[in-house]
Amino acid sequence: MVKVVVIGAAGGIGQPLSMLLKMSPLIDELALYDVVNSIGVAADLSHVSSVSSVTGYLPVNNGLEQALSNADVVLIPAGMARKPGMTRDDLFKINAGIVANITQSIAKKAPQALVLLISNPINSTVPVAVEVMKRYGVFDARRLFGVTTLDTVRARTFIGQLTHTNPREVSVPVIGGHSGVTIVPLLSQSKPSTACLSEEERENLIHRVRFGGDEIVQAKAGAGSATLSMAYAAFRFAEIVLEGYEGEDSSSTSFVYLPGIPGGQELAQKLDVEYLSVPMLFGPNGAIKVVNMLDKLTPEELDMLNVAIDGVKDNVKKAMEFVNQYF
Ligand code: LMR
Repeated sequence: MVKVVVIGAAGGIGQPLSMLLKMSPLIDELALYDVVNSIGVAADLSHVSSVSSVTGYLPVNNGLEQALSNADVVLIPAGMARKPGMTRDDLFKINAGIVANITQSIAKKAPQALVLLISNPINSTVPVAVEVMKRYGVFDARRLFGVTTLDTVRARTFIGQLTHTNPREVSVPVIGGHSGVTIVPLLSQSKPSTACLSEEERENLIHRVRFGGDEIVQAKAGAGSATLSMAYAAFRFAEIVLEGYEGEDSSSTSFVYLPGIPGGQELAQKLDVEYLSVPMLFGPNGAIKVVNMLDKLTPEELDMLNVAIDGVKDNVKKAMEFVNQYF
């Protein structure tokens, strides 16, 4: 029996994400928590004729703790979204507190769960969650992931358009972080190759992957940021984590605390950074190992990665300052 919990289930990402999860044959029980409307969303989804049961929870009667009871996987799309003119970092103040509160409940009620964090800014909210779990003595780096899959989804889509390839057949690793120049698409490893593109086209492509989120924020003109594509991306990542949980071979990229994952410690030392989005393999206990991709990087990609690392370090520093005041 696999139980999946969505925290922030009635929001812009939460609703389509819950819908996709409800349709998944990998899930038996879906628990939807939000501060409003989660009962209605759960009732609505419960009429969908798929195998899983759905229950909604509100803050009353310790709803979050109830939802988390016996959770195998927890997805967190809770928090505020960007408006035009804002960076993801501008969300830090409000979302860091939300993530810290939620993580405390997970630490108490479902410390064994695999946690998939979507709330921005990922480069900072993941370290906040890690520190909270550490304070409760239940941190396991193999079980806590920042969802950066939308960067890969975008890269696949845009490369597909430019090379006239079905995006489902495109594979390209995107590493680093999840904001602006911390996002590092590794075009040298793209399949199909992007060598047919001009230098300008490749530069524009890298820029578009890095700043794709801004395109959506501008197009929504004050009504938020990516919700549908983010829900799709988070679902894709959840499926990969769940496949690993079920004992199948699966791999993906995500933002993690490197020193706590096999293969991650050497990478952390080489790059002098603790957090990074990197390719990894998944198993029943979450991440099995980080796949070393350093040797395959071109000198230009290594330069981009070093810039990304500086940005990530600043974001992590901000998270540590927050946590020190929080406790
Ligand atoms: C995205 O990449 O679209 C999300 O992180 C949302 C945002 O604020 O851009």
